[in-house]
Amino acid sequence: MALKKIVNTWCKLEVIILIFLHISSTKTREIDDILVYTVATSETDGFQRYTRSAIEYGIKPNILGWGEGWKGGENIRYRPGGGWKINLLKKALEPYKDDKNRIVLFTDGYDVMFLSDLNTIIDAFKKTNARVLFGAESACWPDPELEKLYPVVESGKRFLNSGLYMGYAPDVYELLNYSPVKDTDDDQLFFTLGYLDEDLRTRLHFKLDYNSEIFQNLNGATSEVEMFPETNKEYTEYRLKNVVTHTQPLIVHGNGFSKTNLNALGNYLARAWTPEEECRHCKWGQIDLRRTLVKDLPTVVLALFFEMPTPFVEEYLMKIQDLEYPKERIHLFIHNNVKYHMPHVQSFVDQFSGRYKSFKQITPDDSIPEWTARDLSLDYCMQKDCDFYFVVDSIAHLDNPYTLQLLIEQNRTVVAPMLVRPEKAWSNFWGALTKDGFYARSHDYLDIVYNKRKGLWNVPFINTCYLVNATMLKKYDRTQLSYNKENFDADMAFCSNLNELDVFMYVSNRVDFGHLINPESYDVTRTAPDMYQIFDNARDWNQRYIHPDYPENFNPNKKTLQPCPDVYWAPIVTRRFCNDLISMMEAFGKWSEGKNEDERLTGGYEAVPTRDIHMNQVGWDPHWMIFLQRWVRPVQEHVFTGYFHDPPRSLMNFVVRYKPDEQPSLRPHHDSSTYTINIALNEVGKDYEGGGCHFLRYNCSVTDTKTGWMLIHPGRLTHYHEGLRVTKGIRYIMISFVDP
Ligand SMILES: *[C@@H]1O[C@H](CO)[C@@H](O)[C@H](O)[C@H]1NC(C)=O
Ligand SMILES: *[C@@H]1O[C@H](CO)[C@@H](O)[C@H](O)[C@H]1NC(C)=O
Ligand SMILES: *[C@@H]1O[C@H](CO)[C@@H](O)[C@H](O)[C@H]1NC(C)=O
Repeated sequence: MALKKIVNTWCKLEVIILIFLHISSTKTREIDDILVYTVATSETDGFQRYTRSAIEYGIKPNILGWGEGWKGGENIRYRPGGGWKINLLKKALEPYKDDKNRIVLFTDGYDVMFLSDLNTIIDAFKKTNARVLFGAESACWPDPELEKLYPVVESGKRFLNSGLYMGYAPDVYELLNYSPVKDTDDDQLFFTLGYLDEDLRTRLHFKLDYNSEIFQNLNGATSEVEMFPETNKEYTEYRLKNVVTHTQPLIVHGNGFSKTNLNALGNYLARAWTPEEECRHCKWGQIDLRRTLVKDLPTVVLALFFEMPTPFVEEYLMKIQDLEYPKERIHLFIHNNVKYHMPHVQSFVDQFSGRYKSFKQITPDDSIPEWTARDLSLDYCMQKDCDFYFVVDSIAHLDNPYTLQLLIEQNRTVVAPMLVRPEKAWSNFWGALTKDGFYARSHDYLDIVYNKRKGLWNVPFINTCYLVNATMLKKYDRTQLSYNKENFDADMAFCSNLNELDVFMYVSNRVDFGHLINPESYDVTRTAPDMYQIFDNARDWNQRYIHPDYPENFNPNKKTLQPCPDVYWAPIVTRRFCNDLISMMEAFGKWSEGKNEDERLTGGYEAVPTRDIHMNQVGWDPHWMIFLQRWVRPVQEHVFTGYFHDPPRSLMNFVVRYKPDEQPSLRPHHDSSTYTINIALNEVGKDYEGGGCHFLRYNCSVTDTKTGWMLIHPGRLTHYHEGLRVTKGIRYIMISFVDP
């Protein structure tokens, strides 16, 4: 079955290659003179990248070992092994062992990319005068003792690496047969001993590509290579250069611990990303679900995690609900680890969970730690035989409702939508890792985060929101693929496992998917804690709390309402703001006595006292000041032209409570301000009766106040005013004396 599939794939590739050859047949050399081999047992992300680079340069590798179990020893990355590769190639070369003109090129398959076509590779090979040429590296491996037997070199790397080599068929064949080798023997050791045999080395013209004229092994050389854009006749593409040896390698190998470096280079090399066409590899394998019937759509486990108190969780949940993907194809899994969010989650569950294909919730009462819960969500995906596993943590706001569909269509094993804290460089991926596996910044990180460069990026760490193709999950058990790993937090454990399994993690910024919430200063011991998020989560704060009609205040075709002379009326905040502010004040509860003596004031005396609470009593003074500057000041400058004072100053910011049996009204007075704002926090006729503001000089009253709208008027001299009597209920207003 798998074999049939690959045969099919190769037939398709052949067509592409034929077209390619047709285009580039200016050179007369028979490409058949060269045979390209690799060993791969199954499709991996690395092998797909290899294949893509081969197709890009019209190369058609012969794949050995496909569909067979790996026989070259366990865990080849850390332990010796790989003799099987030699035995496979030996057999394959049997028919060509006397073919003197035939060149053989062998490459590893999972961590290699072609950077050039075969003509260029053959030309470079011929220049070396070698009959057998291997790539070189800086470490003598697997037996460092052999170092002293190696010839000394003047420049470049001294030691043999067996991941990339080429030569004439009879010579390569002879080398493969110079001594028997077991499948589980080490291939690199085998070739090394061959190389160190001086007779054999001389007879075969057996050389190492010390200076990376053709082969670039990256391990130990990552700081010696750079990418640079090279412009040909038709297009620009990124090429690799070795800045130490001044060569341009034609094949690159991410051997040993350099594979994350190859992953980073692979985002650009082999025309994966070019300045003109941008992300060319994005289109590779991409699918289109738009015409797929609902019943045929892949099933998804959507796993939501509330691991820390998070601002704007209600909006987060609405965005989950708004995802454009049929709920009947989604299994919903929720881990809520935060007591504070229980009502939010419960209200979502009560309203919507029934629409999903299935639903499971773990609540704070279950006391299940994060990594266990995340593992359970993987198990849930297995139980439900899901096609995809989609994680969305509570800080991930998916503003783009097509996120899930777009990620599925991207057809990668693991792909994350890029999410960034607005105006910050903090995102849900890392561009590079330090040696110990922690954050390091990649050369292109800022370009990606700021969307100067768009595409699909292979990165070593993602978190918060990502989609996993469950076919991969099903390949491994919980010992290999888990969120639980010593000394790692859950995300790092998962990514570290994926790295070890050679599964690529992509992050996409091809379109805007959403943004990240910053939970750092969120203090749920406060009442209405989201109100305090005006600094750390300004975008979400504005969305929730600024009146949707606020921009209308500046509409040149509209006149600002003026209920009394020089008293303007403008929509400013939402009802939610009003309710939250009242809640903050009532929860605090220490309303002033309404007396002239007031120890909250510097002078200790208030001439016209009200029953009120000051903003600084509830820790909301800095927030209010920034609100004045960002939202009130522009309206002031618009209606009272020519007066600028930025930032506005204000010492008196408070909420007043009018109540028939407490303080129902306020006698006429001037305010000690240049201008005063007065926001109605609740609704006349519903929450209270009576009330309003009367301006005596103009004999003009504003009584039909609108919730969330502010009155803005001069404070002194002209606008002598009084608070009208509240006859029933409670009236709340928010007052600020600006620029006293
Ligand atoms: C996804 O892409 C791979 C190639 O990378 C392709 O073989 C496969 O058919 C694609 N999946 C679908 C569902 O088309
Ligand atoms: C998931 O991955 C497998 C293996 O790569 C692939 O065959 C399959 O098409 C992918 N599933 C979807 C729905 O893209
Ligand atoms: C003020 O206006 C009210 C009606 O709006 C009117 O009845 C009253 O006579 C006016 N008072 C003065 C002093 O003009």
